[in-house]
Amino acid sequence: MTDTTLSEPDAALAPLEFAVTKNLAAKSPAVREEILRDPGFGTHFTDHMVDVCWSARGGWHRPRVQPYGPISLDPAAAVLHYGQEIFEGIKAYRHADGGIYTFRPEQNALRLQRSARRLALPELPTSYFLQSLHELIAVDGGWVPSGEDQSLYLRPFMFAKEAFLGVRPANKVAYYLIASPAGSYFTGGVKPVKIWLSETYQRAAKGGTGAAKTGGNYAASLLPQAEAYEQGCDQVVFLDSDGNIEELGGMNILFVKKDGTLLTPSSDSILDGITRNSILELARDRGLTVEQRAVSLAEWREGVASGDITEVFACGTAAVITPIGALKAAGFEDEQPIGELALSLREELTDIQTGRREDTRGWLHRLDA
Ligand code: PLP
Ligand code: COI
Repeated sequence: MTDTTLSEPDAALAPLEFAVTKNLAAKSPAVREEILRDPGFGTHFTDHMVDVCWSARGGWHRPRVQPYGPISLDPAAAVLHYGQEIFEGIKAYRHADGGIYTFRPEQNALRLQRSARRLALPELPTSYFLQSLHELIAVDGGWVPSGEDQSLYLRPFMFAKEAFLGVRPANKVAYYLIASPAGSYFTGGVKPVKIWLSETYQRAAKGGTGAAKTGGNYAASLLPQAEAYEQGCDQVVFLDSDGNIEELGGMNILFVKKDGTLLTPSSDSILDGITRNSILELARDRGLTVEQRAVSLAEWREGVASGDITEVFACGTAAVITPIGALKAAGFEDEQPIGELALSLREELTDIQTGRREDTRGWLHRLDA
């Protein structure tokens, strides 16, 4: 039978044969359980990592599962100088039956391929991407927590490791996958966040790399993020090159309107969020109207002032769905209305992800079988 889930070249690929080296210094189950009790976000890592090499001559080769640890790099490795790097963020959830599932991983594989094209990196075939997730879960499945709002955050990434100082796409590249047990992204759980409008800095530009998940976009967001903290805010919202609302440093933004419309910006510089696309689908199925178009700051502010906008929220894999409680800028501070849609969509989405609600759309992918 033909597997229609894979593209032609992908379908023809034989699986990689991973060489597995077990971590002899793996954390004991007791230490692991202690970490999983309150994992925070992004500070603890599992015992193993996956890596696959790529070269222009040999393609993808040397697939390995090895103990988690430092990477040895030549000081002239291109990534250290020119930032030729991309990554993904995806979570694994423990269901009540003990099974380990992830959410729409093919979408992350495709986005990694789109990011690769923009950054002149090789495209990792979808089947290899999925296989890397399975390989890591096979050795580190015990790290997937089962508590409320907990998951194992998986971080696939790829970078230029060839050593040279000329500016050109590297001929040697590494793909890695690491994993980190996660609780809530924001300390204190789900509560409305206050966001800072950056009018001085942008994270991305027209024709730039905004739609790619590449380190440089996040580097560009750090100074405005520091400014946000100084202003007593949790996150930054950026404007695009046309001066319209773009997105947050690591999350997309959505507006709920009184007439039952869910509105979200469209722009070439926005990261096409899988959480956002899933929310739009859930919203359509609830009978809401979905609109994706340019949203100006004036439309936002006037909408809140007139009552036309009834809720504003941010979403992404790490933070799931987070209501926005206030928008602050150099010249104003606007309280944002808090409604019930954001939290109700959050519940529906996380219920599907964690197996509390039936997955009728084929979004879940089992990783431990
Ligand atoms: N926008 C940016 C800049 C992000 O880093 C993320 C997080 O991955 C998102 C949006 C949300 O994307 P997703 O829902 O696929 O995690
Ligand atoms: C994610 O939501 O997966 C992100 O990548 C956001 C942030 C942690 C960079």
